Order: sequence, then structure tokens, then C-alpha cells
Amino acid sequence: MKVFTVNGSPKMEKGNTSLILNPFLEGMREAGAEYELFYTSKLKIGPCIGDFICWDEKPGKCIINDDMQMLYPKLRNADILVLATPVYVPLPGNFQNFLNRLLPLIDPVLQVKAGRTRAKLHKDVNISKIVLVSTCGWWEKGNFGTVIRIAKEFAKDVNVEFAGAVLRPHSDYLGKDNKKTMRVFENCKLAGYQLVKEGKMHSDTLKVIGSPLVSRKKYVD
Ligand SMILES: Cc1cc2nc3c(=O)[nH]c(=O)nc-3n(C[C@H](O)[C@H](O)[C@H](O)COP(=O)(O)O)c2cc1C
Repeated sequence: MKVFTVNGSPKMEKGNTSLILNPFLEGMREAGAEYELFYTSKLKIGPCIGDFICWDEKPGKCIINDDMQMLYPKLRNADILVLATPVYVPLPGNFQNFLNRLLPLIDPVLQVKAGRTRAKLHKDVNISKIVLVSTCGWWEKGNFGTVIRIAKEFAKDVNVEFAGAVLRPHSDYLGKDNKKTMRVFENCKLAGYQLVKEGKMHSDTLKVIGSPLVSRKKYVD
């Protein structure tokens, strides 16, 4: 099983998103998957210019010559797409560029599903699951609402299963090396393992990952 992961944090390896993404990927690897990890901030990924050449004149081909050209074959070969990003009201700009530049993977053969017009991925794209891994700064999980909606909408638009979200609020508390934090990391690893072995992450595992590391009162104070 091949996993394509993109981390949209401008803080890259030093960010909070990496803290939960790394054990998650390690769990996937232990379960037998191979993964590749890319940081949008290390790559040159310009914005989509909206010409729709990738849909009309050259189906599946993007005419912008930047690092997406290196990523497209890897994306086509992946079975699972892991979208990792911090919440940035709603997304970091580079990561939004990456999402928009997935357009050439989409085949505009339309269908209506549950009252919405949807496309699907081209036949040569293997991706069968999309997962979100995200951190946010504020205390509540409610801060993930927009980002979850974006990931879910994208999965629905391309007719691929949304396999769930690994979410860590008030993620600046992850830096503290204590028992609760260790439990979060262990469960990130477990979630990755479950996803590969069983095709889904358990809700109790995801609950531990998102559980409070401090009371809201203490956080606000
Ligand atoms: C421009 C910007 C916008 C942000 N917007 C939100 C937000 O709307 N809600 C929230 O809870 N955290 C927000 N945050 C905090 C980040 O989501 C949080 O610190 C995250 O863990 C950073 O991940 P990273 O270290 O991997 O970059 C924002 C941070 C920045 C820099």
C-alpha cells in the first residue's frame, strides 16, 4: 500500500502538525505501508491559473512547470492521500495551492449524488482513501470545522472515501513531555496502524488524540 502525504505547515518538521503526523505515518509503516512525505513550503507550487486545459485540451495534464509535475505521478500511484495541515483560517496559502493543483487528477465526467454535482478521479489515479491530519491553536475541536469541511468536500467531489480526521486542538501543549502527551502520540501511531490494517481508524483512538491536555479555564488564563 502506497501513501502520499503532504504537510502544509510553514513550520515543516518543527511544527505541531509534524508532531502528530510523524507517529501516524510510523504506524502506517509498521502496518506494512510505504509512505512519501512532502512539505508544501519546501516545494515550488504556484497557484492554479484556472485555464481548464487539464480538463479540455490536455486531459490530465497541467501546463504549469513547477514541482507539481514531480508530484503528479506519485499522486497517481498512491492508494491513500494524507492531507496534513494546521488550521490557518482556514488553510496555509501553499497548501491551498496544492489542493487546487490536484485538478488534473479529476475527470470531469459528472454525476449527481445526493443532490450534488460530483466528478471523479481519472482511471489512472489509484487513490481510494483521503485522510485529514490537522492541528489548531485554540482549545476547542470546533476550530477544525472549516478544514474538515474542505477535506470532506474534496473527497466527495472526487468520489473517494473520506477515511476520517486525526485532530489535535491546543496543540502548543504537545511540547510538554508528560504522560498525557505521550498517550496522544501513541494513539496517533495506533490510528495509522488501524487505517492500514483495518481500513479505518477507531473512534476511541481519535478521541484520545483530541482529548484535553489542559482545562479550558487554565488555557484561557
Ligand atoms: C495565520 C494563522 C492562522 C491561524 N488560525 C487559527 C484558527 O483559526 N484557529 C485555531 O485554532 N488556530 C489557528 N492558528 C494556530 C495554528 O493552527 C496552530 O498553532 C497549529 O498547531 C500550527 O501548526 P504548525 O506548528 O504545524 O504550523 C493559526 C495560526 C496562524 C499562524
